[in-house]
Amino acid sequence: MAVIGAAPGKVILFGEHAVVYGEPAIAVPIHSRRATVRVRYEPPGTGLRVAAEDLDQTIQLTDEHPLSLILRRTLETLDAAPPDITLVLTSTIPIASGLGSGAAVSAALARALSAALGAPLPNAQLNDLVYEVEKVHHGTPSGIDNTVVVYGEPVYFVRGSTPQRFQIGAPFALAVADTGIASPTHRAVADVRRLHEEGPAYWAQIFAQTGAIVEAARAHIAAGEIAALGPLMNRNHALLQMMTVSCPELDALVEAAREAGAPGAKLSGGGRGGNMIALVTEDVDREHLRNVLHKKGAAHVMFTEVS
Ligand code: PMV
Repeated sequence: MAVIGAAPGKVILFGEHAVVYGEPAIAVPIHSRRATVRVRYEPPGTGLRVAAEDLDQTIQLTDEHPLSLILRRTLETLDAAPPDITLVLTSTIPIASGLGSGAAVSAALARALSAALGAPLPNAQLNDLVYEVEKVHHGTPSGIDNTVVVYGEPVYFVRGSTPQRFQIGAPFALAVADTGIASPTHRAVADVRRLHEEGPAYWAQIFAQTGAIVEAARAHIAAGEIAALGPLMNRNHALLQMMTVSCPELDALVEAAREAGAPGAKLSGGGRGGNMIALVTEDVDREHLRNVLHKKGAAHVMFTEVS
């Protein structure tokens, strides 16, 4: 099983939801969590299938299953017949919690399949494919998830523009705490869309305020001014609360992180569940923070370095 495809998880640092309306957002990969696909060669006539080990499930190419769509699109793009292989999928990215699990699994599958066919897809083409599949599953995604997991680099993203890598002036750490509540992003996105339709001018200025926070954050990250990110995270969270995409469980984790000394905390991703991120500066006692977050209901807490 020599051929391997992989892709990391991700978190959105700043700008979720407003990004759907053309404002910028910043997202970073989480390399400690990834989807990995190994290729097992099978006897002729076996066909193409996915063995999703964590789900204890085998999916055939012809099944109506979210995982078979990316395979079909990859074969169409390469104008190739299905090879006789099993794509053995494992992932350490929690599902449906805003960490990019769906996009990472699609990217890893398409990478492994195209490599097994001797035609590894370049990132730009892979990104388009994964985005197409994201659209089928998530309605009107901005494209930020697929971009950051496919490129595996911090991304400054504006919908419809070429994603930009940006400078990280000094590495920094985040705590990522999962509420344990699975929340479909498309529902939160649809609710924000309804709000926007009811009062476009009002919401446009809320989104613009979010965009200004993202621009400031990008400049501070590039300059290595990490402490300045805390207040920006707090302001971004307040705007997300106004957009109605936070929830009591997320707010409790945000409050707890701040009380434990994190200079900033916010929800990350679609909201209404999923994850909270907090800035972990050197003076923050990580074990204390972890305990406090668990006590306030976090199902999982992890620390990740952004560099
Ligand atoms: O829930 P996640 O991490 O997949 O992020 C969704 C981000 C939104 O801005 C809410 C939607 C989007 O498509 O960008």
